[in-house]
Amino acid sequence: DAVARRSGLRFGSALSARTNGASADNPAYAAPLRAECGLLVAENEMKWQHLRPAPGAFDFAAFDRIMAWAGQHRMAVRGHNLLWQRRKWMPAWLEKYDFGARPARSASEILIDHITTVTRRYGERIASYDVVNEAVTPETGALEETALSRALGGTEATLDLAFRTAHAEAPHAELVYNDYMSWEPGNAAHRAGVLRLLKGFRRRGVPVHALGVQSHLVTAGPDTGGSARAYERDWRHFLDAVTGMGYRLLITELDVRDNGLPVDPAARDRGVADYARRYLDVMFDYPQLRDVIAWGMCDRFSWIGPFEPRPDKAARRPCPYDADYRAKPLRTAIAQAL
Ligand code: XIL
Repeated sequence: DAVARRSGLRFGSALSARTNGASADNPAYAAPLRAECGLLVAENEMKWQHLRPAPGAFDFAAFDRIMAWAGQHRMAVRGHNLLWQRRKWMPAWLEKYDFGARPARSASEILIDHITTVTRRYGERIASYDVVNEAVTPETGALEETALSRALGGTEATLDLAFRTAHAEAPHAELVYNDYMSWEPGNAAHRAGVLRLLKGFRRRGVPVHALGVQSHLVTAGPDTGGSARAYERDWRHFLDAVTGMGYRLLITELDVRDNGLPVDPAARDRGVADYARRYLDVMFDYPQLRDVIAWGMCDRFSWIGPFEPRPDKAARRPCPYDADYRAKPLRTAIAQAL
């Protein structure tokens, strides 16, 4: 983060509240957080599934521990997220909820109550929120539906209400739409859907300030370099369109899926670092980009391992530090790009 701050940028990471995990209670993990990060984000603890065990109930214990540690070390925290527009990532009770005779009204009340309760609790201690996460279906570019959004009268109305409520309650905060349309090929429909959504926000005067580009990158083998240059052009068109509408940019969840690279760890780490560096150099051509957040500092705890194991079963190496907390070439690549 010291490097980042010299260029007016911020660097940060996700962390969890799990003891002995990617958490501040684990001294080996806290060390790179303290040495490198000015900005933190809870990997899961602010999500509805964690905050909302039952209708009407809130459980802030785990997220509050993260806030307390961040406060003690004078680190900023981003809020992730106030609404995840995906059925499988919202609480099971919400999908089965009986919205009653006036579903639009009761769905609005639930959403407003959630956002109001969270934003009021943390006030100015949280200055940036992923208000809405992943509302676009990657394959089609259409908007995702949940029981809540159907009851409320549609996805657009739901997202608009989320942003308007967040803005009313936290007028100081940067409000972000966050999604994973990436620069790799095969993302055209996803990107087009995100652009339509962002245009709609502007047309309807919805207070959205930035696009969060998750940046879960995927290398694809030895020819990655050549193809990366070829598809860089389409990605720039996308970013031009986003920034042309006045949106700022954030890299909110950077990590690298080391697909197709040699199994040898040193070679793999170099491939990952080179790939990320090319990506970051493109991103930093946009002065609208201020914050870069890694989705975890250490390979040992990365979600990529369990979520998408390598076919050859070799341990994934997606993060700036390896499983034994040693800095990797990816760390250098990020520091140099900043
Ligand atoms: C992931 C976490 O890393 C996992 O621990 C959890 O099981 C699922 O969610 N996009 C997001 C993040 O916005 O919240 C996701 O985090 C990764 C993809």
